[in-house]
Amino acid sequence: MKLDILLGLQWGDEGKGKVVDLITPHYDIIARFQGGANAGHSLEFNGIKHVLHLIPSGIFHSDKINIIGNGVVLDPVVFKKEIDDLRKMGVEPVHNLLIANKAHLILPTHRLLDTALETEKGNKKIGSTLKGIGPAYTDKAGRTGLRIGDILSSGFAERLEEVTAQHRKILDFYSFDGLDKLDEMMKDWLDSLSTLKEFTMIDGEYEIHQYLREGKRILGEGAQGTLLDIDFGSYPFVTSSNTVAAGAFTGLGVAPSCTGKIIGIAKAYCTRVGNGPFPTELFDATGELLRKKGAEFGATTGRPRRCGWLDLVALKYAVMLNGVTDIVLTKADVLSGFDTVKVCVAYKVAGKITDRAPFDNNAEIEPVYQSFEGWKEDISQLKTYNELPDSFKTYIDFIEKETGVNISIISVGPDRNASIYR
Ligand code: GDP
Ligand code: IMO
Ligand code: MG
Repeated sequence: MKLDILLGLQWGDEGKGKVVDLITPHYDIIARFQGGANAGHSLEFNGIKHVLHLIPSGIFHSDKINIIGNGVVLDPVVFKKEIDDLRKMGVEPVHNLLIANKAHLILPTHRLLDTALETEKGNKKIGSTLKGIGPAYTDKAGRTGLRIGDILSSGFAERLEEVTAQHRKILDFYSFDGLDKLDEMMKDWLDSLSTLKEFTMIDGEYEIHQYLREGKRILGEGAQGTLLDIDFGSYPFVTSSNTVAAGAFTGLGVAPSCTGKIIGIAKAYCTRVGNGPFPTELFDATGELLRKKGAEFGATTGRPRRCGWLDLVALKYAVMLNGVTDIVLTKADVLSGFDTVKVCVAYKVAGKITDRAPFDNNAEIEPVYQSFEGWKEDISQLKTYNELPDSFKTYIDFIEKETGVNISIISVGPDRNASIYR
């Protein structure tokens, strides 16, 4: 069997959590392949909204296996909280959640370093979620990180001490003044390891291969979005992992030849949290209306999301980088009620029309828009494609024609059931 990959095609928060939960019944295994608790994946059913940060979004289907892959960076404190929250609502994940022993640990000092390094950047801040992601991946690449499997080794306490001491030197160098919190954070962190140890640690790459050989269907769940990718996003305003499809191969230990579908999630408009270029960002009442109607506030930090029209230059770039086979268009309901809906079809940079994002983040980009007639109907209760307003269908057709990819599901609300298959 093949590995299907589901990922974000924009700047994150496209609705990945909802869609993973929706399509989980078609799979045996759901596996997160990168990122950490910077992610906030929301899903909703039976009138209750759940937000997951580290645990794959298939966890509410008790007959499915969920894997935290080796490409993830895991903070045991966040992990314990998520497990506690699930248990409070009667979900017991100990039998269907497995953790790759090669996933790296986020230490309390990684979180402090994140804050110290962001503060140091002054007005050039990335707008990090401050969950310790950048410093943890830095240690991974620097070959000084600690991995989940290390927790069980006899030398663990000593290694932890060494790495923490190294981090303290850096924090001292930056005259970081939050070190008084460290002892308390460290205590919490060490306490939370007992929850982590309740779960089965696996050699992720071997187990996943075994599952593929047995004919099991696996869905890789990405975090963040293509335009936040460390190589292809608007560097340095990116996250610290490969969010593109290629990240699933290293983040799970699966060969590219095992790939099946690549399911790209895109909002019907665009949002971004944190800093960095956003060519179609709207600073006017329309942007405010998108934020209000779409409830565009971060699931992890609560920050208001920047909002703007759909950017086809960026979307086509994401389709190209990932080899997307299917698009799921989310939050389509939010676009109801606008007289006109616009789509950016090209950029104008230094007087020239282009279909490529400029290398220079400071380049002035003027979006070239194509306007579409809006639709007034509330589409959030609709169940079939045929019922959708004609002007919305024209919008869908245009996106499909431009990207060359079929839109296979249209999401019209946060609930699992608010989904239209085509
Ligand atoms: P993720 O990080 O990609 O999983 O997305 P988030 O959960 O951070 O943000 C998506 C937000 O939109 C969440 O609050 C979802 O409940 C909500 N949502 C998802 N799909 C839809 C949709 O089709 N319509 C509306 N109105 N909200 C949606
Ligand atoms: P999900 O999986 C949206 C953004 C941050 C910041 C940049 C770097 O829910 O879509 P980091 O914490 O990684 O150092 O932040 O990336 N960012 C996200 N934006 N959704 C996310 O995850 C994000 N994870 C990180 O706002 O701009
Ligand atoms: Mg999110």
